[in-house]
Amino acid sequence: MTMIKVAGGPATLARAVAEHVVAQAADAVARRGRFLLVLAGGSTPRAAYEALASDAFASRVDWNRVHVFWGDERCVPPDDPRSNYRMAQEALLDRVAVPPAQVHRIRGEDEPGRAAAAYEHVLRDLLGSEGPEGPPRTGLDLVLLGLGADGHAASLWPGQAAVREPVRWVVAAYVEAVAMWRITLTPVVINRAHHVSFVVSGAAKADRVREVLEGPRVPDRLPAQALQPVSGRLTWLLDETAASRLRERWMAPAHDDSTSSEA
Ligand code: 6PG
Repeated sequence: MTMIKVAGGPATLARAVAEHVVAQAADAVARRGRFLLVLAGGSTPRAAYEALASDAFASRVDWNRVHVFWGDERCVPPDDPRSNYRMAQEALLDRVAVPPAQVHRIRGEDEPGRAAAAYEHVLRDLLGSEGPEGPPRTGLDLVLLGLGADGHAASLWPGQAAVREPVRWVVAAYVEAVAMWRITLTPVVINRAHHVSFVVSGAAKADRVREVLEGPRVPDRLPAQALQPVSGRLTWLLDETAASRLRERWMAPAHDDSTSSEA
């Protein structure tokens, strides 16, 4: 089941994402005593992380129970302006008290293959696995993802083998589209999450949002379509412009500053 939540503009979307994280954190801590949160990279989530770190939201999360991960990372040092870690550190982690040992950074400064294997080891330690080549025994609690204008998500790009990776939870690949090495979680681990949530803003993404949600399933061309929880929930958090090309049936009447509907 897919839940679509359409907020107003970017600022309303940022608050809706912060509210979503707070709700998922409370649910995970109540059920499992911890909250395993995977942050999205790129530029869209920055406003949501800043909202989450603000007085309106930060005090509503038991940060001591939170583990932070990244869905992908650019292969650059952590202080590089392109680093997804650096963006999250500035917008959120420098402002809330997640225990440092629970901030699991992808080491973008290391050799990509080695960094990917090391990250998979961290995840396997925390989630357990059904054998050395098996999927996670327990799921990440919330995986936040952005959507690229070409339909990529995390660093799963169109035509890449990682989109169909059957065993590894984390892989490294050189991405022609951005002329750099990237490290990314694969569908093997993302799709075992309790909750996978896309956060998309802007008219430039509207056509792709419609293709991913309403078009034929072609994950090699639209890797975002490969990210469907096996038994968890999938949510799309959109601002009005990103949702503007969707058929009306998704757009439940507004009953607050965000509307939601289920498909
Ligand atoms: C990254 C992200 C990537 C991003 C999309 C959308 O490292 O860039 O993981 O998947 O989420 O490209 O990026 P924007 O939010 O900047 O549009």
